[in-house]
Amino acid sequence: MEPASDGALAELRALHALAESINRSTTLESIYPEALQALRRITRADRAAVLLFDAQDVMRFAAWDGLSAPYRAAVEGHSPWLADEANPQPVLVADPAQEPALAPLLPALRAEGIASLAFIPIAHQGRLLGKFMLYFNAPHAMAADEVRLALTVAEYLALAVSRQRAIEEIRRLNADLEGRVQRRTRQLEEANREMESFCYSVSHDLRAPLRALDGFARILLEDAGHALDEADRDNLRRIVAASGRMGRLMDDLLKLSRIGRAGMRLAETDLGSMAADIFERLRSEEPERRMTARAAEGLRVRADAGLLRIALENLIGNAWKYTRRNADSRIEFGAREEDGEAYYYVRDNGAGFDMRYAAKLFSPFQRVHAPGEYEGTGIGLAIVQRIVQRHGGRVWAESAPGRGSTFCFTLWTDGIPAELR
Ligand SMILES: Nc1ncnc2c1ncn2[C@@H]1O[C@H](COP(=O)(O)OP(=O)(O)OP(=O)(O)O)[C@@H](O)[C@H]1O
Ligand SMILES: [Mg+2]
Repeated sequence: MEPASDGALAELRALHALAESINRSTTLESIYPEALQALRRITRADRAAVLLFDAQDVMRFAAWDGLSAPYRAAVEGHSPWLADEANPQPVLVADPAQEPALAPLLPALRAEGIASLAFIPIAHQGRLLGKFMLYFNAPHAMAADEVRLALTVAEYLALAVSRQRAIEEIRRLNADLEGRVQRRTRQLEEANREMESFCYSVSHDLRAPLRALDGFARILLEDAGHALDEADRDNLRRIVAASGRMGRLMDDLLKLSRIGRAGMRLAETDLGSMAADIFERLRSEEPERRMTARAAEGLRVRADAGLLRIALENLIGNAWKYTRRNADSRIEFGAREEDGEAYYYVRDNGAGFDMRYAAKLFSPFQRVHAPGEYEGTGIGLAIVQRIVQRHGGRVWAESAPGRGSTFCFTLWTDGIPAELR
């Protein structure tokens, strides 16, 4: 007989080898041989097997050594515990003939040359996953120590099985998520296409009435201009100028709806002077309003100038609209840097809004303020977002009710794509 300390050492080694193999392995199958060997070594069993519940709660052989196919076929499905047993305990059978429950299996046990056997539950967090079987060729009553060690191995294996199932669950969830992302992407593309065709038909249908507006205002100016006073002539000229501007906006919108990224035409664009232009126009449209406007100089970027003008028109137009109740509208366009990333901003001292709505504002037709309070349809920021995204950037807002708003955007955060350079 081995000295006790050598025996303990061998057991420790076997357990350690099993733990290592569990940590190394990525599949359950590769753990079984090590587990069976550890079991046999520390319990001195002649043969061993692992059985796990399948999806129908039937015990199935997962791994075994030294068991014949007829024996496995005869006993598979047998379990001393119910599948939902709360606290399954080991069942040690020194003499099967004395166990009424095993009577049906006796012929198979005899034919296989099994004199004693033990059922060791494999359970994890209160759930029975399966069992270990230990088989002895000669009659054998298991010692308490052997049972304890066998339960330790069962615990290891239970951990490995649960880990494996968790990994499979994660794989399944990932595949699921992938599918959801693809579906969502298709929906978004569909929505984009709808928005494009919507923009296209709107700008197309508006063209005829716009031409009429422009044409008749010009005719009036030419034919009846001499009969009007200077203020009336000036109003007519404003109609012509506004029609021209609307036509250009529509052209740009049409362009936005027609082109993909590849259709963008990048050029060195001076955002500061673009903003200053827009301030000038707003001032001339409502000269009685007080406005303190500031546009930073020298903000040059490579961008599609037509599209960026639309974006700035919308952002500065909003600032102008939502500062209408101020005695003095203060609007500023500039650039900042945060965490090494440059961004542009339009800041105002106007009505502001609750930040709870900040993300929604960029969806078409989403408005915080009632139409009676401030006119508009809620499409402006959706267009801004679209344009900024086409320029590889993102847009966000910072505000509080009554405290003014700041709309910020970045451009080309990942650089300008090769096909646009
Ligand atoms: N500078 C701002 N100050 C306060 N609220 C703003 C500002 N800019 C936008 N908002 C809020 O965001 C909403 C959406 O803006 P968006 O530009 O999309 O639409 P709109 O200005 O209402 O209409 P449209 O631009 O189509 O004429 C606005 O209705 C308003 O409630
Ligand atoms: Mg707007």
